[in-house]
Amino acid sequence: MKKHPEILVAGGAGYIGSHAVRDLHAAGFTPLIADNLSKGHREAVVCGELLEGDLKDEFFLDRIFENHSIQGVMHFAGKCFVGESMSDPAIYYEENISSALTLLRAMLKHGVNNFIFSSSCATYGNPVSLPLRETHPQDPVNPYGETKYFIERILKHYDRAYGLRFCALRYFNAAGASLDARIGESHDPETHLIPRILGTVTGKFEKIQIFGDDYPTSDGTCLRDYIHVSDLASAHRKALLWILENDASEFFNLGTGTAYSVRQILESAQKTTGAEIPFEKAPRRPGDLTELVADPGRAINILDWQPEYSDLDTIMESAWKWERHRRY
Ligand code: UFG
Repeated sequence: MKKHPEILVAGGAGYIGSHAVRDLHAAGFTPLIADNLSKGHREAVVCGELLEGDLKDEFFLDRIFENHSIQGVMHFAGKCFVGESMSDPAIYYEENISSALTLLRAMLKHGVNNFIFSSSCATYGNPVSLPLRETHPQDPVNPYGETKYFIERILKHYDRAYGLRFCALRYFNAAGASLDARIGESHDPETHLIPRILGTVTGKFEKIQIFGDDYPTSDGTCLRDYIHVSDLASAHRKALLWILENDASEFFNLGTGTAYSVRQILESAQKTTGAEIPFEKAPRRPGDLTELVADPGRAINILDWQPEYSDLDTIMESAWKWERHRRY
């Protein structure tokens, strides 16, 4: 492998992509960030070169591949809200699938065949057994999960037919921020639980709504597997190295194997912030599943990866530090 190999990070100005960019840079890679800044933030690009443009623009991509010697591509760009995908499915199918297809076409045209894809636990749909293993049946229940699932299937066929090598990384609940609070989560509108809770402490929101307290769990609220964004970032780098070393493709869960309820997250935030956080019970949110928890064994064994920052205290403290110091 070349010294400081160039890696194209599509969507590298977004929440998870920007952490992957920093991780790549720290590990000696040269990240090139392709982002149209529709959801990403210029301020989130703290290293590497930002190339502003749209992934659906093949000429934009051609110029990047012609001007650089790219060893691999990480693809983070795309629409990522389950609820929005239910109310406006067209933009999910159009945006997520066409940008992935255009990016893959440009890569293969220029002889680049190493691809890391942001997939999701939303590809599984309703769990029939827990914790979720990669072999669990996939039957997504919303258009967001379906687009991720379709792209996974596309990747399988491109591997067979065109020699594409890929890792599809099925994230559970991405959370937390870089420990120095330089980059973190910033969505508009913000719908995710932890930033909603912390935004309630800072006065951005009036109170937190708990979407359903009548689920069949010990405290009645939904269970999720929260994984620190820096652990997601390191898994991407390890997945890329694994492809380069093994000339193979694989699907991996990225989670911790431990689930926390909405109430436990709220209690953790109260402990970290020292604030009494106002909340109210609200109806269940359509499309929410009772429990999602990963079996991360495959990634741990094959990629030699370990979550380092995904204990709940580190997740909450880093998210809280970010919330107080955020610049975007
Ligand atoms: N929740 C609340 N109140 C809120 C926000 C969330 O009670 O204000 C609850 C939700 O109902 C859910 C849990 O907190 O039970 C977590 O919700 P998030 O919106 O933070 O995350 P999701 O589990 O819905 O979504 C995440 C990712 C998606 C991914 C999905 C897979 O953000 O990209 O997991 O199910 F697709």
